Amino acid sequence: MAIKKVGIILNGVTGRMGTNQHLVRSILAIMRQGGIKVSDDLTLMPDPILTGRNANKLQALSDKHSCEKTGKLKFSTEVDKVIADPAYPIFFDASGTLQRAGFVEQAVKAKKAIYCEKPTAVTTAEALRLAKLAEDAKLKNGVVQDKLWLPGLRKFQLLKDQGFFGKILSVRGEFGYWVFEGTGFDLPAQRPSWNYRAEDGGGMIIDMHCHWRYVIDNLFGNVKAVSCLAATHIDERVDERGKRYRCTADDSAYATFQLDNGVICHFNSSWNVRVRRDDLLTLQVDGTKGSAIIGLRKAWIQHAGSTPKPVWNPDIDQPINFFAGWQEVPDNAVYDNAFKIQWEMFIRHVCLDEPFRWTLREGAKGVQLAELSLQSSKERRWVDVL
Ligand SMILES: NC(=O)c1ccc[n+]([C@@H]2O[C@H](COP(=O)([O-])OP(=O)(O)OC[C@H]3O[C@@H](n4cnc5c(N)ncnc54)[C@H](O)[C@@H]3O)[C@@H](O)[C@H]2O)c1
Repeated sequence: MAIKKVGIILNGVTGRMGTNQHLVRSILAIMRQGGIKVSDDLTLMPDPILTGRNANKLQALSDKHSCEKTGKLKFSTEVDKVIADPAYPIFFDASGTLQRAGFVEQAVKAKKAIYCEKPTAVTTAEALRLAKLAEDAKLKNGVVQDKLWLPGLRKFQLLKDQGFFGKILSVRGEFGYWVFEGTGFDLPAQRPSWNYRAEDGGGMIIDMHCHWRYVIDNLFGNVKAVSCLAATHIDERVDERGKRYRCTADDSAYATFQLDNGVICHFNSSWNVRVRRDDLLTLQVDGTKGSAIIGLRKAWIQHAGSTPKPVWNPDIDQPINFFAGWQEVPDNAVYDNAFKIQWEMFIRHVCLDEPFRWTLREGAKGVQLAELSLQSSKERRWVDVL
């Protein structure tokens, strides 16, 4: 059995996504499971190096996560030098959105395969420019589209393939939770403050409409028009250092998407909403033959044959327990971490030339939907997505 080492630069790895999803739950998880066994004769083993600006943070990460299976995790603050090193054919970026382009450009020059977090930019023109740079240099490239591998969404795909829904009519997406303003000593905000400043690449729409684009395109149909209302409900928050700052980005979005197959999707996304639903993201899909509630991991279904017949009468308590009429879809498969699944696919794409369709160009479609959603809100009108 040959073990092929695959050098991977993990940039911006001290951040929330870089550490939790990409380092710990993806790359280290792959190493701890013994690599990616691609045949009886070959295993692909990630060989990561952590890069960033702060040596102390990188050292702490390395100290915390190095173990027998991973060896001592390497790190460097000299990202230019590491990018120039041919020992690392893959460059991954989870730094801030506005930093992405600079790093991607450097990695293209060094002929790396490029994988990065979404959004790839905050304008469509810039996202497409990055895609073209990588394509012109004939480099393999990809963007994180993790939600596609969530157990709940995979259950939806299975139900759809089985013909459960009949004709799908509409999708109601509810996303969000309460993000604390950070005003109380004991209640710091649970998300980084840059998310609430447009000048730092923040905003609900640029953050989440990128996800909704690939979720909708892949599961429900191609988005052809958007009507969106953006709001900044909370205009002042407290940052990581305890300082008040003005929120210059949208923190909520109320958006309707028309699809090419006639399906209507309406997504509410908000950081100012208290949760009384099954999960932080729920998608209610209604079809002629059945409906489903899709959460991050679980899904519940109601068939046409078990649909109750409500009668409007507000003078009495509701006699039907609507929740009781839904059946949970069983876990008939083992569901690995969604980010890890996509990482394994990208590594196989780079090393074995297997197909990988979640490219920088696909990622640019998400940025496009975000940009057009903001335009729709600003101009108070429907905007076509061409
Ligand atoms: N796929 C998803 O579900 C998902 C979820 C959240 C965030 N994201 C994306 O991931 C990216 C990071 O978000 P986060 O929540 O981890 O933010 P974060 O603020 O926790 O992390 C950002 C990281 O980038 C680093 N960084 C900032 N400026 C830098 C520079 N000039 N040079 C080098 N490093 C720099 C920071 O030190 C930090 O390590 C964003 O683009 C965000 O949109 C994706």
